[in-house]
Amino acid sequence: MTVWAMYWSATGTTEKVVTTIAQTTAACLGAAFQSYDFTLPGMREHAPEFMADDLVVFGTPTYAGRVPNVLLPYLTTVRGNGALAVPIVLFGNRNFDDALIELRDILAADGFRPFAAAAFVGEHSFSNTLAAGRPDADDLALAVRFAEQVANRLRDGRVDLIEVDGRAEGQRTYYQPRDRAGNPIDIRRVKPNTSDACDDCGLCAAACPMGSIDLQDVRNYVGICIKCGACVKKCPHGAKYYDDSGYLYHKAELEAEYQRRAEPSCYI
Ligand SMILES: Cc1cc2nc3c(=O)[nH]c(=O)nc-3n(C[C@H](O)[C@H](O)[C@H](O)COP(=O)(O)O)c2cc1C
Ligand code: SF4
Ligand code: SF4
Repeated sequence: MTVWAMYWSATGTTEKVVTTIAQTTAACLGAAFQSYDFTLPGMREHAPEFMADDLVVFGTPTYAGRVPNVLLPYLTTVRGNGALAVPIVLFGNRNFDDALIELRDILAADGFRPFAAAAFVGEHSFSNTLAAGRPDADDLALAVRFAEQVANRLRDGRVDLIEVDGRAEGQRTYYQPRDRAGNPIDIRRVKPNTSDACDDCGLCAAACPMGSIDLQDVRNYVGICIKCGACVKKCPHGAKYYDDSGYLYHKAELEAEYQRRAEPSCYI
């Protein structure tokens, strides 16, 4: 058996949790470990060939309470071929809403057998204070315990479809940010600005999961921005920033309203 860590992770929180769970499960089972990171566009041109005796720990973040919709075309092309799967979503301390049940259902439709699932907390893509530093040591210790339970279930052969909280995919719409008056905030066209601190190192262009930052001129965008936070958080000079009032209002509201510590949810 090979245990895979397969994930999309713009700011690294999904990568951390999925890798911890997959590596721990592999160690418990004495199985081989492999990983497939489909964050960058080139990696979404293909997917690994899975087999029925593989186990795939499969992770995405939660965006607007769901699996990021830009990933849906790729996700439907991945073939499970009967491999076992453990869907994992990360969320930024608000809520994962229907993201986990949606990811479970996508994987089942792809021919995987999802028999355990979990939602973990990661520092919010928009913020340095909301769930700052998470997943932290407590989260990763829980990820290790969850992986041990996953390995035990496999040893016992208990691999029925896992029940997950949330409604069936499609029943609840995407989470909608709103302004003070209750009007929807539309941030679809918002993109980060670039300050004079930029030294044209090109890191942001290399890190953009949409391939949308022009490598020749990082102030120029050649595609859509999904506000994933990769360029903002990875710029060594803090040169990428937002000044859109709707985006900044939504960010401040999230930081104010969701200060309590949200805990992971494990389904096993
Ligand atoms: C566009 C967008 C929408 C998001 N929506 C939610 C949400 O509905 N609930 C939540 O708790 N976190 C939300 N987040 C935060 C991410 O789910 C969270 O920060 C996650 O850990 C990021 O994963 P990554 O580090 O693998 O990119 C959102 C982030 C982005 C960029
Ligand atoms: S990562 Fe920062 S410094 Fe480097 S090119 Fe991008 S904006 Fe400029
Ligand atoms: S430009 Fe947008 S999509 Fe690309 S890395 Fe920056 S925030 Fe993410």
